[in-house]
Amino acid sequence: MQQIQTKKLDQTVKKILSEKSLVLVGLMGAGKSAIGRRIASRLQMNFLDADTEIETAAGQSISDIFAEHGEAHFRDREEKIIERLLVDGPLILATGGGAFMSAVTRGNIKTHGISVWLRADLDVLMERVGRRDHRPLLQTTNPTAVMQKLIDERYPIYSQSDITVESRDVAHEVIVQEILKSIARQSQL
Ligand code: S3P
Repeated sequence: MQQIQTKKLDQTVKKILSEKSLVLVGLMGAGKSAIGRRIASRLQMNFLDADTEIETAAGQSISDIFAEHGEAHFRDREEKIIERLLVDGPLILATGGGAFMSAVTRGNIKTHGISVWLRADLDVLMERVGRRDHRPLLQTTNPTAVMQKLIDERYPIYSQSDITVESRDVAHEVIVQEILKSIARQSQL
């Protein structure tokens, strides 16, 4: 019974996503790539990570782009690459934490996709980003203060997403299921 329901849910969402991309939004450490990958494999759809695409196109890591060309240049590349990925979609797309702050990108996501904000509390984010050190914005003496500032600045904007799901320490499958159910529910409204 459970299996039949899951199959039906997956089919419903896959149909919706045959026309629109699913775009994951949220701060560093929210789990956008991990969750995005899981959704893509469950629905057998294409997954891309915007940060990786930017790095591939530039032939440089994000840290090096920030260091050599500055954040404004990175944001410009980010806007253009996300637009191209969405135009070429549909796909499951994980965006970098700053991407949704661009009005241009928000517009492109609105046109081509369904935005899903993975909302997480400060302690969850810090626990997760503490495991790696490749993020230029957190290369400071007080990364927790930076993260809190980003929460204050960005959460009001992230909240414009079509769907919000609380990212927390549960199995990824639980979050994936919540996202798929929300998408199916929304399409019935
Ligand atoms: C950034 C988040 C990073 C990356 C860049 C800037 C941000 O992506 O795009 O370091 O402004 O929050 P993740 O959210 O995937 O870590």
